[in-house]
Amino acid sequence: MRKIVVTLATLTLLSGTSAWVTASQDPKVKKEIAEYQDYFKKRFPTVAKDDYSDGVNALPQYAERRANWEMLMEFPPYDADMDKAREMWKKPLKSGKTLGSCLTRPATKYPYYDEQRKEIRTVELDINECLKKHGEEPIKNVKHGKMALLIAAFREQYNGQPWDIDIDTPGAIAAYEAGKKFYWTKRGQLNFSCANCHVHSAGNKLRGDVLSAGIGHTTGFPVYRTKWSLAGKPWGTVHRRYGGCNRQVRAKPFKAQSPEYRALEFYEAAISTGVPLKVPSQRQ
Ligand code: HEC
Repeated sequence: MRKIVVTLATLTLLSGTSAWVTASQDPKVKKEIAEYQDYFKKRFPTVAKDDYSDGVNALPQYAERRANWEMLMEFPPYDADMDKAREMWKKPLKSGKTLGSCLTRPATKYPYYDEQRKEIRTVELDINECLKKHGEEPIKNVKHGKMALLIAAFREQYNGQPWDIDIDTPGAIAAYEAGKKFYWTKRGQLNFSCANCHVHSAGNKLRGDVLSAGIGHTTGFPVYRTKWSLAGKPWGTVHRRYGGCNRQVRAKPFKAQSPEYRALEFYEAAISTGVPLKVPSQRQ
């Protein structure tokens, strides 16, 4: 037995970078993602990669509050809304087509770089484009409400499947670089980068919150959030959350679906490669 354990340990050491990563074939991108993920493997050795879909609930520093969350999850507050969301998703559009027949790419492959249009495409943009194409009005508010529900109904069909976006063409790599720059740049009056909170301080407390690890970010989105539910809009896309995080450091948020937030989402998806989707999720 002892021998087997030693052999396994040696293998892990020899393999060097994480066996967690599959995404890009680009050696630099591949190495960066592996390094990012290895950082968390070392920082939280008891947390399995799949667990990061649970956001902050996955961290040992959150263990005391996790029991409450688990209790809440016995009757998830989002269940009734999800029934509605699935109905909306299946409802034929004016042309007779459904959204499902329009969005042919799996949710694990979003966001993606569109070579023709030379831009990052998100589920939000493709849903609105599909609505227009099939005689419906596009959805104006792309941060909460109906849009968030439709995305939840789409993405939940891929729950349990590892996130695996494509970052192989020069355009996609440039978008990844733009998102990376945003993520690591300090901003706002408090002068914090995303990484300052979600990498360097992951697991630490901040004004009563525990900071989640950046790995796995956005795998649970859209989320149903208690804080948002107090104002009557419990559902939010990940760009809604980005706006909140920018505001926390007193930086001016960008618009949902701005090129900046799309690149950021692309980068967060890249560094979460291999973490399974878990949609919707409940958050504090
Ligand atoms: C001052 C610290 C701080 C900074 C800087 C910050 N955040 Fe956050 N973020 C939080 C807190 C607090 C939460 C709520 C607890 C948690 O889940 O980490 C949060 C939550 C999130 C979540 C939700 C995770 C989930 O699964 O529910 C995402 C995604 C996120 N942040 C992304 C970002 C990005 C991207 C940036 C950079 C634009 C950023 N944050 C900057 C403090 C910060």
